[in-house]
Amino acid sequence: MTQKLYIKTYGCQMNTYDSEQISNLLSFHGYALSETPEDADVVILNTCHIREKATEKVYSDLGRLKPFKQRKEAKLEKMILAVAGCTAQAEGAEIMRRIPYVDLVLGPQTYHRLPEMLAQLRRKSSHRQKRRLVETDFPIESKFDFLPEQQTISQGSSAFLTIQEGCDKFCTFCCVPYTRGAEFSRPSSAILQEARTLISKGVQEITLLGQNVNAYHGKGRSDTEEWGLGRLLLEIAEIPNLKRLRYTTSHPRDVDEELILAHKNIPILMPFLHLPVQSGSDVILKAMNRGHTSDFYRKIIDDLRKARPEIAFSSDFIVGFPGETNEDFAQTLKLINDVDFAQAFSFSYSIRPGTPAGSMSSQISQHEKDERLQTLQHLVREQQIRFNTLWVNKTTSVLFDRLGRHDNQYIGRSPYLQPIHVKSPENVLGKILPVKINSIFPNSLEGHLL
Ligand code: SAH
Ligand code: SF4
Ligand code: F3S
Repeated sequence: MTQKLYIKTYGCQMNTYDSEQISNLLSFHGYALSETPEDADVVILNTCHIREKATEKVYSDLGRLKPFKQRKEAKLEKMILAVAGCTAQAEGAEIMRRIPYVDLVLGPQTYHRLPEMLAQLRRKSSHRQKRRLVETDFPIESKFDFLPEQQTISQGSSAFLTIQEGCDKFCTFCCVPYTRGAEFSRPSSAILQEARTLISKGVQEITLLGQNVNAYHGKGRSDTEEWGLGRLLLEIAEIPNLKRLRYTTSHPRDVDEELILAHKNIPILMPFLHLPVQSGSDVILKAMNRGHTSDFYRKIIDDLRKARPEIAFSSDFIVGFPGETNEDFAQTLKLINDVDFAQAFSFSYSIRPGTPAGSMSSQISQHEKDERLQTLQHLVREQQIRFNTLWVNKTTSVLFDRLGRHDNQYIGRSPYLQPIHVKSPENVLGKILPVKINSIFPNSLEGHLL
């Protein structure tokens, strides 16, 4: 009999990819996705730990799930409640202690063993024993070797493909090296195979994923050959019928000559790059252990612009890192002005327990952080509006991937990931079409099909 599976995904695209893999894997074991947790047999929260708020959200959602689980159990049915992902990895024991009705905690590197874990939980419970499981080790085997290749879930026209996992950079503010483990690159043959499968199912746009995607150093065609991201992009771009290629998230330190050349030589590599810099102050960059200066970042931006003049950039910023002075913050604003971003994400520094910055004594007050965040967001907002305004009355290509809220409205993405909506009497989902932009809205652009 089909069992109902509900998955809620928090955090970054890597978690989105993992959730897709989990539903794909469990579909081979008789589970079908359910839209709501209410009557599900298995509920999985695939969690994020990057900031305190992300972690708090997990605990409050767990609270909301309690009545559903109780109702199901009142009917003498079982709901297995599982916490997966980065918070699970970081706080497994704590989750088990605080939330007694959680049945299973599993980290991001063990979910290929889920069918076995679920079977184990069901077996134990049939003996009326209350059994709970925590699986947060970093197994020697790679989950990728155990996941079924065939996708049973529909991918649409745009797909993620994880090529690299984990991080060895240990930025002092960040929990990822602890939640995702050491850096690991998949062999190129497995990646090319997965890309071919996706494209054969109608995928036109692939985004290669990794916490540190351009640290990629996977096995090439032979055992002695190692490929960097630049080479891998070249090979993937050769697959017929692929229309768009992207990668995220990269680190400035790992942008090499080969990658810059890839931006010059691969037309389907989209001219938009998310390249987090976090701060424009060299003192703060050093305290963050980012391993580069602000001028190094400027130089990379210049080199990429020379290689691909139409390229635009987005970035991540943290304000209020411990010890950040007004002068340091001014340096960040200066960097933003120098680079001129098409988009940026910015965050107020959040203490992550166990990270070096978490125990630094020079923490900044919340008030100060809030003020700096507002100032920074105002500046990047202006840049974003300026960038979008440049597109009014110009034509861009849009890959349509969802329906809008209004009748006959379709939404897609430009090469710069701008959400663009049009009206069309004809169904344009899954198509890449030229669109002339009419006007800009706060979070999207509006245009008409040519
Ligand atoms: N691997 C990527 C970032 C992954 S985390 C990189 O190296 O840039 C995504 C973003 O979350 C980071 O770029 C950073 O801006 C933000 N972030 C990470 N830890 C944070 C913390 N403790 N407080 C606030 N923001 C944080
Ligand atoms: Fe975190 Fe730094 Fe690794 Fe990015 S490079 S995941 S910010 S430790
Ligand atoms: Fe969050 Fe883990 Fe991604 S902490 S941002 S889900 S790598």
